[in-house]
Amino acid sequence: MDPVRNPYAPGAGQRPPELAGRDRELQQFEVVLERVARGRPERSMVLTGLRGVGKTVLLNTFKSMAMQRLWGTGKIEARPDQSIRRPVAAALHMAIRELAPRHRAPERIEEFLGVLKAFAMRDPAAAKGTSHWSPGIDVPASRGRADSGDLEIDLTELFVDAAGVATDLGVGIALFIDEMQDVQAPDISALCAACHELSQSGGPLIVVGAGLPHLPSVLSASKSYSERLFRYARIDRLDRDAADLALIAPAEREDVEFTPDALDALYEAADGYPYFVQAYGKVAWDLAPRSPITVDDIKVSAPEAEEELAVGFFGSRYERATPAERDYMHAMAQLGDDPVPTAEVADVLGRKPSSLSPARDSLIKKGLIYSAERGVIGFTVPHFGRFLRAQPL
Ligand SMILES: Nc1ncnc2c1ncn2[C@@H]1O[C@H](COP(=O)(O)OP(=O)(O)OP(=O)(O)O)[C@@H](O)[C@H]1O
Ligand SMILES: [Mg+2]
Repeated sequence: MDPVRNPYAPGAGQRPPELAGRDRELQQFEVVLERVARGRPERSMVLTGLRGVGKTVLLNTFKSMAMQRLWGTGKIEARPDQSIRRPVAAALHMAIRELAPRHRAPERIEEFLGVLKAFAMRDPAAAKGTSHWSPGIDVPASRGRADSGDLEIDLTELFVDAAGVATDLGVGIALFIDEMQDVQAPDISALCAACHELSQSGGPLIVVGAGLPHLPSVLSASKSYSERLFRYARIDRLDRDAADLALIAPAEREDVEFTPDALDALYEAADGYPYFVQAYGKVAWDLAPRSPITVDDIKVSAPEAEEELAVGFFGSRYERATPAERDYMHAMAQLGDDPVPTAEVADVLGRKPSSLSPARDSLIKKGLIYSAERGVIGFTVPHFGRFLRAQPL
């Protein structure tokens, strides 16, 4: 059928034509926004889940919800090799720019921007002259606030001031952090401390995160009280009804239908994983001659969809691994698809567990595997074991 009208959207962070099966999380976030705006005590939300389950898309939807309530919003994507100071400064700059036109006291905004600039300029990379980034704020940097160089103190002061500006307008500020498991350990700890401080003062600023399944353990290793700061929402595969809705609703808007056995076949292939739902749906649409899309169309299109996934979704990640890391993952794959004890992986390879730690640690750093529990390791990418077992060694 006409590829131009194809509604499906496989791709990292691509907004799906229908956000299926996330009503509970959306409702929870509505409540969070409402309570925080009223100064009520409330835990913020952190989304966790495997690759391709729709964390980024949901985080972006949360951002739109906050914007609809006229909140100031900003977003960062954490990187393992980078301090969050500059990205957070840029994100809060965005948030304040959203609020500024509605604020009646321009000097309050200028005052905050001066603090924000001082905060940003405390970046260690900037001090060493290795960074030429300037915040693009044309007020002079102020002194004596959020510029101590201690990220915990500085973030706390910055958050309190930002929340103050939002309070003037009766709204809040939401800072979104994607790939939050990649925030460096000292920064995670500073961030939790700043959120903790803020939650005590009831300031309307929240940090909303998304990351891989081990993010809760990263946070609690950093601060024992992190469980009281965040409500963890595990984002998972879509159940059958939601997966069907994700396919049917967009098609219906283009007057296209699926036969029931086509939907059976699609659910079997995609296994409810949102990325796969979009990928199989997209190819089936293109190859089907007409509506309704039948089970035969699915059979014909499956190899092409699998080929695209093998290259784009699995292959691109596999390429990032070194030969030793690949051996490690192949050994994991031999043990099945669920998380496995690291000791068993060592057995498969006939090696001492300790000699494998470097490969394991760098795979974790690359976001290919995760350890949510001590001594147990799993793939972050759904169906990755299956993909590896089909690969020649
Ligand atoms: N609720 C949903 N219904 C239908 N499709 C969805 C849903 N959520 C996400 N998708 C689709 O799934 C794909 C992956 O989404 P997204 O990039 O948000 O996943 P992710 O969890 O952030 O993955 P990663 O860990 O790789 O960053 C996108 O193509 C998106 O359109
Ligand atoms: Mg993502």
